[in-house]
Amino acid sequence: MTVPPIRTEPRVSSTFDRYTISEIQRAAATGIYDIRGGGAKRKLPSFDDLLFLGASISRYPLEGYREKCGTDVVLGSRFAKKPLHLRTPVTIAGMSFGALSGAAKEALGRGASAVGTSTTTGDGGMTAEERGHSSLLVYQYLPSRYGMNPDDLRRADAIEIVIGQGAKPGGGGMLLGQKISERVAKMRILPEGIDQRSASRHPDWTGPDDLEIKIEELREITDWQKPIYVKVGASRPYYDTALAGMQGGTAATQEVFIENVGIPTLAAIRPAVQALEELGMHRKVQLIVSGGIRNGADVAKALALGADAVAIGTAALIALGDNNPQLEAEYQALGTTAGAYDDWHEGRDPAGITTQDPELAKRLDPVLGGRRLANFLSVLTLETQTIARACGKSHVHNLEPEDLVALTVEAAAIARVPLVGTDWIPGQHRY
Ligand SMILES: Cc1cc2nc3c(=O)[nH]c(=O)nc-3n(C[C@H](O)[C@H](O)[C@H](O)COP(=O)(O)O)c2cc1C
Repeated sequence: MTVPPIRTEPRVSSTFDRYTISEIQRAAATGIYDIRGGGAKRKLPSFDDLLFLGASISRYPLEGYREKCGTDVVLGSRFAKKPLHLRTPVTIAGMSFGALSGAAKEALGRGASAVGTSTTTGDGGMTAEERGHSSLLVYQYLPSRYGMNPDDLRRADAIEIVIGQGAKPGGGGMLLGQKISERVAKMRILPEGIDQRSASRHPDWTGPDDLEIKIEELREITDWQKPIYVKVGASRPYYDTALAGMQGGTAATQEVFIENVGIPTLAAIRPAVQALEELGMHRKVQLIVSGGIRNGADVAKALALGADAVAIGTAALIALGDNNPQLEAEYQALGTTAGAYDDWHEGRDPAGITTQDPELAKRLDPVLGGRRLANFLSVLTLETQTIARACGKSHVHNLEPEDLVALTVEAAAIARVPLVGTDWIPGQHRY
């Protein structure tokens, strides 16, 4: 009688896992690096590692239906004659026309305006769709200067000087040829159909002094009316005072960048707040945090750590209809699946959002998309308010680090809140 050989289960290496092997094989076959949209996909310390301490005896909660809990935010009141008054601390992050279709920009404007918040332009300039439907529009002033128009500076409600973005601090934008349509090319003064890479730093400045000069210049152009924001990718937040973490999304960036450059949003907030506190500017100059914000709990945690508002990118696109499981057959045809689709740079988006193909773009109804986004923004605001009330706060800005504990030692150290069940905050902080 022969005994069949006993084999152990095939074992996948955790160093060379299936994804890593397929990426080596892809790189070997093509000789080009991988580009994709979205943020880092690996597990990072995140807002999920924090919990709120609801009020009970030592602090008492507010009554949900009877006692008010404010959600309004004013941005830029210290220096601008016309600060932005928002009804919610959730804003829409800058996403370029080019990366997104005109209808997607319109939908963002409709959704944000319905709940009293702002949208932001992006690389490539201001579109009629977005200006026309955004009651509050922030105009980005980017290193590339693509689509930059001094008249649009004056038509905006605020100006955002972009130094870097969370998914790629130190790197410039990318828009691949497939998405450089006639209209996109004209707005950027670029040839149609040719891959475009945006500059990674402003051409006319070399250091912090130049930033100050630029801010003065923009204030002059807009007669000191508009708030001026500075957007910084999170890497040295204490020094740079961060606005976005490595979890921040992007329309198109090298995978190696997304996964390996920058720091998680959770790690960026406290050093940025500390820098503002030391300058005597916390709550005077506002801090808007973005990168991986998905729900009201994330918003409330960012505010409790010291942010004044948050900005969402990826979550807003999902609210419009990105990665909709009803489109599964079409995602499969593109070699992916709903929930994992990130080839936004290719312009073949079945949901019609990250595309310049007129036929695909028609799939997004901007009115319906806007309604879905408005619903989502309302839920984020209500969830934030619910948590604030449970912590006994009459305004979402009264949330504070004391309301939080951390589930892991790492999160306790980087968010500077106690490890759950202890009064231990690990680490000595120089900043
Ligand atoms: C489709 C898309 C296009 C983007 N385009 C720009 C841009 O033109 N300028 C910019 O500063 N950031 C851009 N970003 C980054 C966002 O402004 C924001 O920092 C980031 O998406 C926040 O992270 P989240 O997507 O996890 O919310 C883009 C992001 C996405 C998803």
